[in-house]
Amino acid sequence: RLCQGVNGLEKFVLREIRGSSAEVYLYGGQVTSWKNDLGEELLFLSNKATFSPPKAVRGGISVCFPQVGTHGALEQHGFARNRMWSIDPAPPPFPPNSTNRTYVDLILNLSEEDPKIWPHSCECRLRVTLGPGGDLLLTSRIRNTNADGKTFSFTLAYHTYFRVTDISEVRVEGLETLDYTDNLLEKERFTEQGDAITFESEVDRVYLGTPTKIAIIDHERKRTFVLRKDGLPDAVVWNPWDKKAKAMADFGDDEYKHMLCVEAAAVEKQITLKAGEEWKGRLELSAVPSSYCSGQ
Ligand code: BG6
Repeated sequence: RLCQGVNGLEKFVLREIRGSSAEVYLYGGQVTSWKNDLGEELLFLSNKATFSPPKAVRGGISVCFPQVGTHGALEQHGFARNRMWSIDPAPPPFPPNSTNRTYVDLILNLSEEDPKIWPHSCECRLRVTLGPGGDLLLTSRIRNTNADGKTFSFTLAYHTYFRVTDISEVRVEGLETLDYTDNLLEKERFTEQGDAITFESEVDRVYLGTPTKIAIIDHERKRTFVLRKDGLPDAVVWNPWDKKAKAMADFGDDEYKHMLCVEAAAVEKQITLKAGEEWKGRLELSAVPSSYCSGQ
């Protein structure tokens, strides 16, 4: 199930018996495809995405680690998304009730240069699981393996590009009345006023301390994406809209109409690990008919 993807980069393909599937590239540990059992693609991947290291792949789901956005001294979104990962030869045990699942375990390979920009030793694992109903589950484990006893801190996000039919017809539920910081306004803090979030211009916000469940409703397709998350208290919501879309070389001018990033994240408060400690976070995604979701 490990095969060649674009530009000879290796990818791991997960298939579930009822027809759903997912693809994970070893480059970036990046999920580039998630299809339901009808074969419909659920993630957005730009037509202009380059699979050319060290550029991160535009779309799918990447892990922003050890830094989200510009919240620190590293390059935007940290380095995990543009390093090679490998299949983890010694993954930690998985919960006992999940034996029938299809999954792949990856471990991040830090480059020799990385200690110069981030002077720590860590194990960064990612398990990507395709559930029997086609749900996609990402589980991360970060362990501080510093031999000198040093503590480290990090932020992390699952940078998830959902494929939507028409961004103007999309609603996000679960973030109303929350505080957020606005990346377009120097990270100033606001409180969300509306019922649900809708989109009519560029949005780049970090919602703080969100509920564990967030829903993205794609009206035209009568589909709802449901995100359930643990260990990731915040949520980044991003759509570049037309002007920023034009400025990105690896993103089509009109593609902003068909994507929305809602990123389960730990941003506002850094996660701190003492030497030997481990952190675990998870994101579970399902795509269900909208009628099924209403009233839940
Ligand atoms: C979002 C950020 O998470 O990612 C935005 O909030 C950023 O500010 C976007 O523009 C895309 O980032 P990048 O580095 O993949 O172009």
